Amino acid sequence: MNKKYHLIVFGCQMNISDAERVATIIEEMGYKKTSKLEEADLIVVTMCSIRQSAVDRVHWLDDKFKKSERKPITILTGCILEKDKKVFAEGFDYVIDIKNITHLPKILKTKITHKTSDRLFWEQDNITNYLDIKPKHSSKFSASVPIMTGCNNFCAYCVVPYTREREVSRRANKIIKEIKGLVKNGYKEIWLLGQNVNSYKDKEKNINFAELLKIINKIPGDFWVRYTSSHPKDFKQDVIEAMAEGNHITPYLNLPIQSGDDKVLRSMKRWYTAKQYKKIIADLRKKIPNIAISTDIIIGFPGESKKQFNNTVKLFKEVKYDMAYINKYSPRVGTSAFKLKDNVTWPEKKQREKILTDALRETAFENNKKLIGKIVKVLIDSQKDGIYFGKTDTYKSIKISTFAKASVDKQNLIGKFVNAKITKANNWNLEGKTI
Ligand code: SAH
Ligand code: SF4
Ligand code: F3S
Repeated sequence: MNKKYHLIVFGCQMNISDAERVATIIEEMGYKKTSKLEEADLIVVTMCSIRQSAVDRVHWLDDKFKKSERKPITILTGCILEKDKKVFAEGFDYVIDIKNITHLPKILKTKITHKTSDRLFWEQDNITNYLDIKPKHSSKFSASVPIMTGCNNFCAYCVVPYTREREVSRRANKIIKEIKGLVKNGYKEIWLLGQNVNSYKDKEKNINFAELLKIINKIPGDFWVRYTSSHPKDFKQDVIEAMAEGNHITPYLNLPIQSGDDKVLRSMKRWYTAKQYKKIIADLRKKIPNIAISTDIIIGFPGESKKQFNNTVKLFKEVKYDMAYINKYSPRVGTSAFKLKDNVTWPEKKQREKILTDALRETAFENNKKLIGKIVKVLIDSQKDGIYFGKTDTYKSIKISTFAKASVDKQNLIGKFVNAKITKANNWNLEGKTI
C-alpha cells in the first residue's frame, strides 16, 4: 500500500511556494498526499516565525504529536529561528533547513536517535538550489515563482533575515523559463515572490527588477503578473515605468509602509520618510491611474505614542488605501527591537487596530464605489451554488451572480478570465455581472 504524507503550511506566500517544492520531493519518494492528518505516515510542517502566535501553533502541533499513540515520521522545515531549532528537534523526528530539503531522501534514511543534535540538518548548501525543484502547484491557474529569497534589511522588528539568511536572486533565464512553462500549461496568474523584489539582481546578466518585469511583459499569452514584497527604499522609477507598460503586469501594488510616523520609521530601521513614500504613491498614480494600493502596518511598535500612531491614521486618510494588512507588534528574540520595551499594551494595540481598520474601511469603500458601472477583467477562482468568485486585475475580490445570456459555459469558468461590469460596491469587495 502506498504511504501517505500530510503537509501543514504556515506563513506567507513564500512558504506556500516552498511547500510546493517540498511536495515534489516527497512524492518522488512514492508518498501520496492526504488531507487527513490521522492517516499520514509522514507529516511535514513548514513553519513561520514572524510573530510569536505563528511559533505557538507549531508548539501546539509538537505537543499533539508527542501525546499521540500513532507515531508517523514528523519533519519540521520553513522559517525557523536558531533558538527554536533545538527545542523543536526534541519533538520532531527531523528539523531540516529548507535549503537542505533536496537531501530529504538521504536524511530520511538516517536513523532517528534520542540526541537532538542528530535530528538537526543544517548543512551548508547553495540557497537557490532547492528553488530549481519543479513545484507541485496547488492551483491549476495561479502559480508563484520565487525570484529571490532572503533579506539584507534587518528591519528592527523582523526575523526574516535570520530565518532566510542574506538575499540571493535566481538567474533571470530560469525565471523566464518557469513562467513560459506555466503560461504554456494555461496558468493565468503568476506571482513573482521575494522578501524584497526591488533589490532583485541577476548579477551575471546585469538584470534588475524593472528589467526583469520588462522581459516578462514581452512573453506572449493572456496572463497576469503580480509581485510581492516591495521595500519603499528600493522602489525606483524604472519599476513604475515597467508597470505602466501594462501588458501582463497588473495595476496592483502592495507597498508596506509599517508606520506613518518618521521617528517610528527610523527606530524600525526602515530608512524612508512618510513624505518619500507618498511621493512614490503619487508617481504611481500619475502613470497608472487605476492602480489599487495596499500596505502592511505594525501597530504598537515599542515607544509608539498616540500622536505617532495618529500620523499613521492621517497617512491612511491621505493615501486612501484599497487594502491593508494590519499587524500588532510581536517582540522577536534576536531582532534589534527586542531590547526595546514592548510598552504599548495589548488592549491599546487592539484599540489602535480598530481605529486604523475603520479608516481603511472608509477609503476602501470610497475607492470601490468609483468602480460602479466600470468594466473590469476578472479571474474566476471559485464557485458556490452558482455564484462565482474571483479577483479583478486590481486584486479586488468580486462576486458574480448574474451572467450575460450568451455567456460562456458556466461550469468551465474557474481559472478563466471574464469581463464584468461592476454593479455594486461593498467595503471589502465588489459585485458584478459578466458582459
Ligand atoms: N518583506 C516584507 C515583509 C515580510 S513580513 C516587507 O519588507 O514588507 C510580513 C509583514 O509582517 C511585515 O510587512 C510586517 O508588517 C509584519 N511583521 C514583521 N515582523 C513583525 C513583528 N515582529 N510583529 C508584528 N508584525 C510583524
Ligand atoms: Fe523583514 Fe524588513 Fe526584510 Fe521585509 S525588508 S523581510 S520587514 S527585514
Ligand atoms: Fe513567516 Fe518566513 Fe514568510 S518567517 S512571513 S514564512 S518569510
